[in-house]
Amino acid sequence: MNPRKNIMTSREKTGVVVLGAGVAGLALATFLRKSDVPCVVIERRDRAYIQVRQRAGVVDARNVQTFERWGLADRLLAGPIAQTIDYRVNGSGRVFEVVGDAGSEGRFCTQQMLVHNLLRELIDVMGGDVRFEVGDVKIENEASSSPKITYSDASGPHVIACDYIAGCDADHGVSRTSIPEGVLTTHTHDFGYAWLAALVEAPLIGHPIMAASDHGFVAQLPRGPQRSRYYLQCALGDGPDDWPDARIWEEIRRRLCDDTIENAVVHDKEFVPLRSVVHAPMQYRNLFLAGDAAHLVPPTGAKGMNLALYDVDALAHALVSALRDHDTAALAGYTDAVLPGVWKYQDFSVWMTDTKHDAGDPTLRGQFHQMSARARLDELFSSPVAARLHSDYQRGMA
Ligand code: PHB
Repeated sequence: MNPRKNIMTSREKTGVVVLGAGVAGLALATFLRKSDVPCVVIERRDRAYIQVRQRAGVVDARNVQTFERWGLADRLLAGPIAQTIDYRVNGSGRVFEVVGDAGSEGRFCTQQMLVHNLLRELIDVMGGDVRFEVGDVKIENEASSSPKITYSDASGPHVIACDYIAGCDADHGVSRTSIPEGVLTTHTHDFGYAWLAALVEAPLIGHPIMAASDHGFVAQLPRGPQRSRYYLQCALGDGPDDWPDARIWEEIRRRLCDDTIENAVVHDKEFVPLRSVVHAPMQYRNLFLAGDAAHLVPPTGAKGMNLALYDVDALAHALVSALRDHDTAALAGYTDAVLPGVWKYQDFSVWMTDTKHDAGDPTLRGQFHQMSARARLDELFSSPVAARLHSDYQRGMA
């Protein structure tokens, strides 16, 4: 056991304060706790809220291996899945199967399932310290003193002194905004359209579908045995008033070229502008960013959760070296170590987004891009090399 663990003064002291109890923060805290590095997680929301956010459901092969190395794969993830996607163009589909070496498949685990399992592992099994419903979070990260986090909750104000802060509090959290102007460079790409994400009471038609059509993109992805989520390309700024349920079903039938699909209950509608963002460096003094606090990917490649896991694996190892072995080299090199991989996840997400949308509506980028995107999709079925590369990206192994 680490001697620091129970050090309590009039104010608290810990090794790492993790801001945010999403996948990034909880996975990081679980890895640290497994390594006997003391840490405290603080989260704005309550536990029930963070367990119900519905998101994509595959942990890619790279991150399955990460969980295996931490001895956690079988405790956190469901079984291996054959990753198949029906890539359609104007109703005509071909099923792409992600290929790879035996034993290096992705595993099924929705984001909310992973959050649920991480909370169980971290709090209920390992006795980790996760504090929900905290407000007024402030970061003190001066060069001259050790960092401090202040926050308040129902019991009053709190101060936690720490060695390091992990900013896992997503795009609108306080971590990144606490970094002074001029330190970060931000690279942004806006795709110029949005997705309407509709959770419906209808099971998957067949395989998961990603379909380009002359009328725009549509996807159908599984959400349990009875439900699925449709994603429909829509205009930036569209809202629920533009998309009554009847229009959603009409467009699904039109874009999938399938009149037999029947209307079903639409449980919720979310509108998501498609954009890619990278902030660098991913660190400032004793603060380290991971997951959506450092970068955003469009949902097309289902890589947001995987990229967060990729970051926190590296960050956990670096923090363990610093706090357990007093070697800060890996922390100093955190950004340089992970940024090339961040750009690979970005590149895959851009490829998926451009290819699937350009191959559809010709008014988007013109017929030239429509036809060249369709050629790129064809290659996945005509060239084993293209199929293997696409699979490697799907598996997070490129
Ligand atoms: C999803 O389940 O939301 C999902 C799955 C695969 C993708 C994109 C989204 O490529």
